[in-house]
Amino acid sequence: MSFVEEIQSLKEAALAELKAADDLAALEQARVKYLGTKGSLPALSKGMGGLSREERPEAGKALNVAKQALEATLAECSSALELQAAAPTEATDFTLPGRRQPLGRLHPLTQVTEDIVRSFRKLGFVVADGPEIEGDYHCFDALNTPADHPARDMQDTFHVGANKDRQASPDSKNALLRTHTSSVQIRVMETQPPPVRIIVPGRVYRRDTPDPTHNPTFQQIEGLYVDKNVTVGDLKGTVEFVFKEVLGKDVKVRFRPHYFSYTEPSFEIDFSSSLVRKMGKDWLEIAGCGMVHPQVFENVGYDPEVWSGWAFGFGIERIAMIRYGIDDIRLFYQNDLRFLNQF
Ligand code: DAH
Repeated sequence: MSFVEEIQSLKEAALAELKAADDLAALEQARVKYLGTKGSLPALSKGMGGLSREERPEAGKALNVAKQALEATLAECSSALELQAAAPTEATDFTLPGRRQPLGRLHPLTQVTEDIVRSFRKLGFVVADGPEIEGDYHCFDALNTPADHPARDMQDTFHVGANKDRQASPDSKNALLRTHTSSVQIRVMETQPPPVRIIVPGRVYRRDTPDPTHNPTFQQIEGLYVDKNVTVGDLKGTVEFVFKEVLGKDVKVRFRPHYFSYTEPSFEIDFSSSLVRKMGKDWLEIAGCGMVHPQVFENVGYDPEVWSGWAFGFGIERIAMIRYGIDDIRLFYQNDLRFLNQF
């Protein structure tokens, strides 16, 4: 057999083997066998050295042709086999409905909070924040509620021991979980001069036994507005605007005299709507509020002769319960998807 004939027959054998490979592994084996560094084609090309000068060009050409043919066939076979390997092994039923990716969503309490915040933002309020582990100074004393004040009993909480208060305030002695977001009023006024226009959504804690309307942890929104010549009229107008936005136009709001040690005069806000009437009541108490007590201004270094303001605080769960007609506060914390999926 001449050299060229040898190339020819090697080429044919290789092509047949490449084409016969029925998976990628077999194809790779054939490639190594013929085209690999120790394969038969490179081995054969070494024989070129023993040829005469006249024979060499033809032999070289034949080698190139063979190599190109093998490489082309290899590429073809490998893409065909790759496609085959990627194809589904079982028949696909294209008429089946797709698999839905369920979208997550916000907890109803978060939704209500965001709506309330959005509404206050329209009036120029900004969100402020404060620590949940408070000292009793910020939670009570600075709010004109000294240690022997009866209002402290009503807001019994969880005491967490001595407070190495990072902010070196008079709180150092007693750390507790804050009973209301009102403590943030003090923190904000201590750090910025008036005017102030803030709302404070946040978690609060009380030593309550869980029942349909109580939970030891719940959420409040506090509001504080300090400026010159602020009146109860501003307070009423603001509260009415926000509640109508959040709970609907048919909502009625009523102010009833009350007592809080950090406001004077103080009010409770009652609220009436078709849903409240469905619950068998005419009015539902929803928030506490009033004009900031001059002593509170003194405590933070604001001059009560110059500045006036109002504050309020209400429970977010309460609002959400009214909005959605929910009769048990504990549902908010159980994370039962059958409940949460409804919002
Ligand atoms: N802190 C009160 C509570 O937790 C609510 C409250 C009443 C907040 C009057 C205020 C206010 O800012 O002025 O029940």
